[in-house]
Amino acid sequence: MSATGLPGAVPALFPTLSERRRIEDQLSALLSDTLERLQAGPVTPTLDIASFRAELQTHDFQRPKPLEDLLRWTIERMEHGIVQMANPRYFGLFNPGASFPAQCADRIASLFNPQLASSASSPVPVELESHVIRAIARRAGLAEGAGGHFATGGSEANYTALLCALTAAHPGFAAEGARAFAGPVKFYTSRDCHIAWLKVAHQAGVGRDALRLVDTDGRGRMDAASLARLIAADRAAGAVPVMVVATAGTTGAGMVDPLFACADIAAAEGCWYHVDAAWGGAALASTRLRPLLDGIGRARSITIDAHKWLATTMGCAMFVTTDPAVLSEAFHASTSFMPSSLSGVDPYLNSVQWSRRFLGLRLFLALATAGWEGMGAHVERSVAVVERIKERLVAAGWSVANDSGLAVLDVVPPAALGEVRALVRRVVASGRAWVAPTTFEGRDVVRICATNGETAEADIEELVAVLNGR
Ligand SMILES: Cc1ncc(COP(=O)(O)O)c(C=O)c1O
Repeated sequence: MSATGLPGAVPALFPTLSERRRIEDQLSALLSDTLERLQAGPVTPTLDIASFRAELQTHDFQRPKPLEDLLRWTIERMEHGIVQMANPRYFGLFNPGASFPAQCADRIASLFNPQLASSASSPVPVELESHVIRAIARRAGLAEGAGGHFATGGSEANYTALLCALTAAHPGFAAEGARAFAGPVKFYTSRDCHIAWLKVAHQAGVGRDALRLVDTDGRGRMDAASLARLIAADRAAGAVPVMVVATAGTTGAGMVDPLFACADIAAAEGCWYHVDAAWGGAALASTRLRPLLDGIGRARSITIDAHKWLATTMGCAMFVTTDPAVLSEAFHASTSFMPSSLSGVDPYLNSVQWSRRFLGLRLFLALATAGWEGMGAHVERSVAVVERIKERLVAAGWSVANDSGLAVLDVVPPAALGEVRALVRRVVASGRAWVAPTTFEGRDVVRICATNGETAEADIEELVAVLNGR
């Protein structure tokens, strides 16, 4: 540094352009070699976490280390230190092997690092995200004028739904919170819902008791008659029902609640109607599977996670609503320091988040590259994978517990293979495939979901073999 000059940029953080290009090229090569290995390798982590913890102590941040070494180290540890979603034998929890266009989007968003709070800071990204949201809304059959935004996850989108329902239900909610209501607030979903709804109730300040879990019909779908009875009983006891949530693609079994019946009950009761299609919403991409979601167009709002079956990288959910004005009412704020404050446009005035990453580019690039047809083929392929697994297992004496039509299969092993949880532990410990244990309509089942867009016949054979103890 000269006596008067500025210190130079810290080269470890901001290397020269040619240095960046060199490291980036290396990183790209390293990543594609790693992908090839991990698709063929074990699905489960092999790294001993106690040794890793000890190794972490060597990173005391006292002495700088070369980025190239650190990148290689990180990738090696990731290769052996996580359950591999990119492995085609991961038949797991809705976490996809990420599509390549979505990965490219992450790189682009990282370079520009646009601030998506404001349309003045990021006119192109804000417009692009709205374009995707409108396309999804049309695909779901929502009326023209629907809007919404990208969110970090289904949980955030579902939280947004509850805040909208509360805001729409009482003009005093914004100022007074739950105290504005004449009695305790209640909202309704099936007992097979994603249980993050409990956290949503907690966060929104209505209390976890506000969540009413409705019985299912013996096939994992919300029982509409029980829903109507529960609402009537709550009203008679002085409670205030505000929202009905139907799940389109339950987490445990991929079942779709009766979307028309739930819509009718919500309308009759003056409740907000939300459809949690976090995973199952992807079926909208397929002309063949779309009818399974008939009735979704009656929703006032919908959650769809692109980071599930639409195979983007993590943290790419959508909240879509026919009533975008309620979003502006629920999330309005005013300050002089923001570059724009356009109600109904600026994401920070219409969503939970303030500073926002450019999430929607991942789905935009994926959809623009594949088209609805390609995305539909991806979704239909997962259903074909599950159908193939079902045939193989039934032939080996397994029984099928659910009848989803989407890409989740719940199965019960023949008695000779022992009980479900022990069997799943054996499968997971083998590293040859990954499945989950869950409970469906009171029975323990093995849950198998086709989450990876590259699963091949040989992967199915391997899964079936390890499930059958071979
Ligand atoms: C039906 C359903 N809703 C909501 C969620 C929560 O979504 P996220 O994990 O993106 O917050 C999930 C997650 O699996 C889900 O299956």
